[in-house]
Amino acid sequence: MQKQTQPIIIFDSGVGGLTIYQEVKQMLPSLKVIYCSDSAGFPYGSRSESEVVDRTCHYLAELTRRYDPSLVVIACNTASTVSLPRVRQILDIPVVGVVPAIKTASERSEKRCIGLLATPGTVRREYTDQLIHDFASDCQVIRVGSSELVHLAEQYLRGESIAQEVLKAIVAPFFAGKLRPDVIVLGCTHFPLLRDLLQSVVPCPVDWVDSGAAIARRVSYLLGMAPEEKAGAIRDIFIHTGELSDNGKIAPALETMGFARLISFDYQGALI
Ligand code: DGL
Repeated sequence: MQKQTQPIIIFDSGVGGLTIYQEVKQMLPSLKVIYCSDSAGFPYGSRSESEVVDRTCHYLAELTRRYDPSLVVIACNTASTVSLPRVRQILDIPVVGVVPAIKTASERSEKRCIGLLATPGTVRREYTDQLIHDFASDCQVIRVGSSELVHLAEQYLRGESIAQEVLKAIVAPFFAGKLRPDVIVLGCTHFPLLRDLLQSVVPCPVDWVDSGAAIARRVSYLLGMAPEEKAGAIRDIFIHTGELSDNGKIAPALETMGFARLISFDYQGALI
């Protein structure tokens, strides 16, 4: 197994990719990570496909030029489901995408009814249709797209509380019909931040699945690194494009997770 000296880049529109970051660091604590939140472009879920592809390609090319990473993770379902082929074309390092865990959900659902909770962009993507066709064609799939939940996850990480009634209304469509899902895919990397709160508002037990652990295993495999026991002294870098809203409120959460520096990055790739 090799020792990794180059960093990896984890990219998202906001703080959702931190759920992937945490899984990766739990498995590989000595791995140096440059996390980038495209806060100037947030939220991606309500942007056009071409805007999402352009922003993702642009920033990943700039970050790769600047930091010479060994691998990139697009820790955003909304971006991965539309920009993966293009990003793989422009970068000559491994690119790991995060897409809804439909296959896992289908393997786990006894009722053959699964829910997909994602951004409005992800629920309507052709990529998502294909995943459902390939892995869950014998399941009823109930799709709920919510940008509001993405904003709520951002607020929650900044220490704000969230009203149960608001969450209840967002997940209500899953439980409106006769057949209720026993498994719900958290198809947006922001949503695992709210897993416990979501569980507390649903009317029956739900198995919530996300892609975090699978992505950490994939990164470890691609880098040829074995899972590590002890945390190293590595402190990571958090980059944000444009303004990071409530900067002061988010700093404690980032510090606890392992970030030593917060850097602002402009569209030209200059540090500001
Ligand atoms: N975290 C992102 C995802 O996994 C998207 C959130 C957004 O910007 O809409 O889909």
